[in-house]
Amino acid sequence: MSSEASKKYIVHPGGKVTGKVRVPGDKSISHRSIMLGSLAEGTTEVTGFLEGEDALATLAVFRGMGVDIIGPDKGKVTIHGVGMHGLKAPETALNLGNSGTSMRLLSGLLAGQGFDVTMTGDKSLSSRPMKRVTDPLALMGAKIDTTDGKPPLILHKTSSLKAIHYDLPMASAQVKSCLLLAGLYAEGKTSVTEPAPTRDHTERMLQGMGYQVEKEGSTVSLVGGGKLTATNIDVPADISSATFFMVAAAIAPGSDITLEHVGVNPTRIGVINILREMGANITLTNEKVTGGEPVADIRIQYAPLKGIRIPEDQVPLAIDEFPALFIAAACAEGQTVLTGAEELRVKESDRIQVMADGLTTLGIDAKSTEDGIVINGGVIGSGEVDSHSDHRIAMSFAIAGLQAGGSIQINDCANVATSFPGFVDLANKVGLQIEEIDG
Ligand code: S3P
Repeated sequence: MSSEASKKYIVHPGGKVTGKVRVPGDKSISHRSIMLGSLAEGTTEVTGFLEGEDALATLAVFRGMGVDIIGPDKGKVTIHGVGMHGLKAPETALNLGNSGTSMRLLSGLLAGQGFDVTMTGDKSLSSRPMKRVTDPLALMGAKIDTTDGKPPLILHKTSSLKAIHYDLPMASAQVKSCLLLAGLYAEGKTSVTEPAPTRDHTERMLQGMGYQVEKEGSTVSLVGGGKLTATNIDVPADISSATFFMVAAAIAPGSDITLEHVGVNPTRIGVINILREMGANITLTNEKVTGGEPVADIRIQYAPLKGIRIPEDQVPLAIDEFPALFIAAACAEGQTVLTGAEELRVKESDRIQVMADGLTTLGIDAKSTEDGIVINGGVIGSGEVDSHSDHRIAMSFAIAGLQAGGSIQINDCANVATSFPGFVDLANKVGLQIEEIDG
């Protein structure tokens, strides 16, 4: 599922971004719409679904487990739910491509299904830590084999799961969601306490489908054995994809861009808070709630940025936005310091090291630390950088081209299609100059 053909970007320097655009649908919500829609009773109509490789991988595996899913067609997906116990054992291993979210959430959802299943992924996913989900699932009674804590995951059928309380050792929405999904099939009350707030799309969607989810302080809980009722889901535009254009406008003088209908769930808006603290001019309009998720149009007009010490409480709220924020830091006046972000080292790539290396190649003083980075704003030069097949690294360096002294070549960009199909076309439409070449 993850892109095998290799692609490079050549980004020509200069420009600004202007206009009004809608970026593709939210990846986290798209995954969850397929998972919960499949388990619901009745027909779920999804609009705004992200037709990127990660969410399509999730869709394909549910089809492989007997769910009748129509689409996607221009973001519209119709899911004929099979109920909590209607999934069928898949005939082959489930290939989840590049998608950590699919694998981690599915380990919980499938642990109590009563059939054996194997989950595999691409090279990047095969090197990502899975003990964070298999350890607590084992406490619930699941039997899962890994290879040194990494995929493939082999889930052996279990007759029943028992509810547990679990204190998350790290702020991770994937682990929290995994345990809540396993909890749907467990006897008793499953509760999870998180060290800091993380995205709560699973909780919101469960509630939207009529499942009772309790939240008390930093603990979220549910009682197994209930059912989900199908509903319509309007997937907002992904703030993580909007981020590239927010940063683009924040660094390129003369820019003025509006991103329409973006999800602004409070657990996702760290990027807005951080950019504002750096001096960015951001306005939210048309704020409303749709399908239990807050959305807004985000307008960002160029204003000079200054370096800051990023507040640690913002880290989980902006966890996927740091590669782009590092580009903002490179263009800001003064020093930006990030701490408390060791989770970045186990994303689709080691995002601290890969960004530090690329920025250094481009002439920026960027030093990685164990749990973050120190970036001194400067002048971005030209050169060749490697995305390590990480979609967000590739798009971040593409944005850097706006302030570069010469062309930037970015290698290994095919995985941009995992989260942002049509990125190059949209970026060029608003004012970037990116050439995409095979090889
Ligand atoms: C996600 C949670 C985050 C995020 C990922 C999507 C989700 O991962 O980085 O892109 O949809 O739950 P962690 O839970 O590992 O922080």
